[in-house]
Amino acid sequence: MSRQPLRLAIIEAAEVLTEAGVASPRADAEMLAAHVVGVPRTRLPMVPLVDPLTIETYRRLVVQRARRVPLQHITGWAAMGAITVEVGPGVFIPRPETELLLAWALAQLEGVHSPLVLDLCAGSGVLGLALANARPDATVHAVESDVAALAWARRNVEARHAAGDSPIRLHHGDVTDRGLLAQLGGQVDLIVANPPYVPADTAVATEVAEHDPVGAVFAGADGLDVIRPLVRTAAEWLKVGGSVGVEHDDTHGEVVAELFAGRRVFTDVTGHPDLAGRPRFTTARRVSATH
Ligand SMILES: C[S@@+](CC[C@H](N)C(=O)[O-])C[C@H]1O[C@@H](n2cnc3c(N)ncnc32)[C@H](O)[C@@H]1O
Repeated sequence: MSRQPLRLAIIEAAEVLTEAGVASPRADAEMLAAHVVGVPRTRLPMVPLVDPLTIETYRRLVVQRARRVPLQHITGWAAMGAITVEVGPGVFIPRPETELLLAWALAQLEGVHSPLVLDLCAGSGVLGLALANARPDATVHAVESDVAALAWARRNVEARHAAGDSPIRLHHGDVTDRGLLAQLGGQVDLIVANPPYVPADTAVATEVAEHDPVGAVFAGADGLDVIRPLVRTAAEWLKVGGSVGVEHDDTHGEVVAELFAGRRVFTDVTGHPDLAGRPRFTTARRVSATH
């Protein structure tokens, strides 16, 4: 059978995805095409014609996406910094906005030799792994409470180690537990955390409601069930001069800043907006030796 134009299949797919209410139909149509053809999205123009079997496979994946299966569950990966991690059912899909927390974290580590880093609420392990990739001299610990997520993280740690990165140390635990990783008390240079933070009863996209683990997204009536105690445990792990950055809901800019400012061990409490200008993460630095 004759080869067919990929471009037309992408246009048709974008229309199907628009109809289905997918938020970024053209981008997703192109990402799925790139996945099927096996090239980066930017190289799609180099593949003008494909065989009918490829078109058929592509249309099958577009149908899945139209049913609001997340793009990353179809392709099997998500990107952060210079790395990708495997994702699928049972683990939170890393979001582009978390790149901002990663960039801030890397800036904090400039000039710090062999830093000790803690990734709280690790999910797929993406933040800790992206930090370990960018800073091979760092010792990175990551904490996750959900065993299904932890299995994904373990797989990603092994894959990144096989690719040449320093292995990060995974811990099964609750980041709100004051006794957790007591051996790191007062020693950590940098903490990053992307905890669950959506207030219960908030309407979320179908992809989130049906495919992200509930415990990765929602955190009690006001969304602060994890962040509130985490501010306290972070203070215990950080060394004097060490920093913490916590991603949060865009309605939480003021309250998270107040939580940090309410503990006198923290200074330089700073809110950071996302690319849309909404409050997205808050950072603070530890000053004194008393909690
Ligand atoms: C929003 S996801 C973030 C995952 C990853 N850091 C990322 O940016 O993609 C939050 C993660 O925190 C985990 N989690 C929720 N409560 C926790 C707790 N109390 N202690 C440790 N992990 C927790 C969830 O299972 C989920 O994997």
